[in-house]
Amino acid sequence: MSVRDRWYQDAVLYCLDVETYHDANGDGVGDFAGLTAKLDHIAGLGATCIWLLPFYPTPNRDNGYDVCDHYAVDPRLGTLGDFVEFIRAAEDRGLRVIVDLVVNHTSDQHPWFQEARDPDSDRHDWYVWSDEKPEDADEGMIFPGEQETVWTYDRKAKRYYLHRFYEHQPDLNIANPHVRAEIERVMGFWLRLGVSGFRIDAAPFLIEHKGIDEVSGKADPYEYLRDFRTFLSWRRGDAVLLAEANVAPGEVPHYFGDGEKLHMLFNFVLNQHLFLALARQRKAPLERGLLLPPKPPDEGQWATFLRNHDELALGRLTEAQRDEIAEAFAPDRESMWVYDRGPRRRVPPMLDGDAARVRMAYSLMLSLPGSPVIRYGEEIGMGDDLSLPERTAVRTPMQWSDKPNAGFTSSDEPVRPVIDSGPFRYQAVNVDRQRREPDSLLMWMERAIRARKEADVFGRGDWHVVDTDHAAVFAHVCKRGGRAAAAVHNLSDAEAEAALDLSAYADRTPLDLLDPGDGLPGITGGTLSLSLPPYGFRWFRLDRA
Ligand code: NOJ
Repeated sequence: MSVRDRWYQDAVLYCLDVETYHDANGDGVGDFAGLTAKLDHIAGLGATCIWLLPFYPTPNRDNGYDVCDHYAVDPRLGTLGDFVEFIRAAEDRGLRVIVDLVVNHTSDQHPWFQEARDPDSDRHDWYVWSDEKPEDADEGMIFPGEQETVWTYDRKAKRYYLHRFYEHQPDLNIANPHVRAEIERVMGFWLRLGVSGFRIDAAPFLIEHKGIDEVSGKADPYEYLRDFRTFLSWRRGDAVLLAEANVAPGEVPHYFGDGEKLHMLFNFVLNQHLFLALARQRKAPLERGLLLPPKPPDEGQWATFLRNHDELALGRLTEAQRDEIAEAFAPDRESMWVYDRGPRRRVPPMLDGDAARVRMAYSLMLSLPGSPVIRYGEEIGMGDDLSLPERTAVRTPMQWSDKPNAGFTSSDEPVRPVIDSGPFRYQAVNVDRQRREPDSLLMWMERAIRARKEADVFGRGDWHVVDTDHAAVFAHVCKRGGRAAAAVHNLSDAEAEAALDLSAYADRTPLDLLDPGDGLPGITGGTLSLSLPPYGFRWFRLDRA
């Protein structure tokens, strides 16, 4: 693949759940027709690729991550025809689409599992069974408090089945070649319908040792990732794999390989350190988070995000660090924290709705190394609803307007309540309103994304951290070809005077990227002296004189 073809390295991803995005038929549930009608919003924002959360038929006990048919669309969301129409409409606007590939497990209602419960059926070995309950069965739960074990007894099979996640999500046995062939068929199916790749759900669990080596004769479970990639590339050369893999920095190279395994990984390590930096109002944790994981190979790329549809997972930090984040961003731990791992809140409420601080946080997301992943609603600064259980708090319907139910649906019974009280109520925070306010978060984000694209160095460029003489002021430079651009962020609530060491760029002239009218001082003696307001930030090109 030539460098120019690596679209994912310059992508701006936009992630959404069809169910809560926009309802076209008025039944209260978002659908593909509704999403299709809103594609101009996504394209207008400047996103280049949509990541769809699972939209497959499901009992919906884990927000669709409990799939019971991998080859269909949940009838509540539309038909396969609607899906294809959506893909075409997205393509017309230059938008690619990637979809969630959930194959670590299925729903227990999946016909595969129902058949597999008969120990004599060919399907039995599609899942992972044990006659005895393994000794460590009550360890390694993903949802502590909601889940008691990872091995549950099935009365029909008279055996225990493995489930890393909820009890109703039995793990597939990918050591079984028939399962692997089926996963390829699933991928092949959606690729034919026009998707540009997959977000691989629960990647570390998918490849964890469930006997893979015994069957394939390969000692290294990560080798499966290579097989995945090879298959994908034969079917569609420009398709990508983006893994949900919250792994330790040392494991990262196993996922990227030398560029022949996965294309993209979410940068969970950076994400957690970024929140620590925001909580402390100090740059050190952010610099550490950036430098901890090894840089991806040439063909690889990070997916850089602030929040996703789950809790803010902070498991890679120490307990004391988690406590600092709790104190700053989830002071009522009882209602704001979940699974012992982190806040179940969106960014703006965590930052007390402070507009300057929220903007600064999103500015980091858009300028740090990697391809940014914007979660629906972030472009307008949506809040959360802590009265909803667990992670549902951050999964409320998109707020389009101040019409009833936020313009999400014409039904009186939206699939999930819209936020209609407090500072983030839809009457105050919605797309319609922000479109009319030149200074809104939405309009700022559109401009910032455009600036990012025009600068053409953030994201995939070679980057390095810049020394500033200020503990709260973080700066970095990205370079590509002969071009260079810098971003500087004041993480603190106090004004900051900072001196950036730009001695390597002493012969260049800084030119503001976000607000070209805003003058910048020149670089003198290798130093750029900047004064930044509380939570202020600047992006600037470093042009050769
Ligand atoms: C990761 C997904 O992000 C999460 O929402 C889901 O509950 C688990 N995988 C299980 O599929």
